[in-house]
Amino acid sequence: MSPSAQEDDSILPCHVGIIMDGNGRWARARGKGRLEGHRQGAEVARNVVRWATDLGVKQLSLYAFSTENWERPRLEVRGLMSLLAILLPKTLPEMMESQVRFRILGDISPLPNSVRKAVKHACEVTAHHTGIELIICLNYGGQQEIIAAVRETLQWIGSQTDQQQALAELTPERFRQMMWRRDIAPLDLLIRTGGEMRISNFHLWDAAYAELYFTDVFWPDFSKQDLQQALDVYASRERRYGLTSEQIATCMDKEA
Ligand code: FPP
Repeated sequence: MSPSAQEDDSILPCHVGIIMDGNGRWARARGKGRLEGHRQGAEVARNVVRWATDLGVKQLSLYAFSTENWERPRLEVRGLMSLLAILLPKTLPEMMESQVRFRILGDISPLPNSVRKAVKHACEVTAHHTGIELIICLNYGGQQEIIAAVRETLQWIGSQTDQQQALAELTPERFRQMMWRRDIAPLDLLIRTGGEMRISNFHLWDAAYAELYFTDVFWPDFSKQDLQQALDVYASRERRYGLTSEQIATCMDKEA
């Protein structure tokens, strides 16, 4: 039996990211419209923050709206935006109570005013909180994040006296410092519900070494047990970062 993630903090992922997929199919299976699936999904998103807190996760990122989601039917986009505008103020008292630090990853500038206002307010009033960090990925795209970091890197290199050297010394760690995620812990575990096995432009940079976990469960049916199962699978994996098992064992011996 694999060790339960709750039994050993060292095998708990610090940062868990979730692609909340399957809302539309969940709704269709019940003869309902897609927005009903998103509404139910939003309730689960609210619950998963509590479950993740209970299970000891420190950072939770939820893929609420991708840069590609603008291409969905106009009514669905509008529905998702109003859902966000309603949900945020509604969940704020819970976030205050449980010290959730609310953050955004993505470019919120093209979002409707009501969403931008709700998002900014939630970020401001929870900025000093010490509980779980809830990172909502909103108008987020991993490729777009990388391009933004390339732009910043080019500017930084341009400002250096020895540009050749600055370029030669550019490492993945230095580049990550240019990314929107610079003060977010690297992604440890990426969960995708809904049965598809894709990353869909989510956390591309950190997906390099994140553990991937796919489940057929549609997001509106996702439960605390499903999250626990994902954490248990994570705990049973060996993260090698390109090394061998023997090297990992030696590192662990030295650390002990
Ligand atoms: C993917 O399911 C889901 C989305 C694109 C939106 C996710 C949004 C929510 C769960 C609600 C708001 C969330 C927060 C955190 C405020 P899909 O529509 O692609 O499902 P399908 O593949 O079955 O069609």
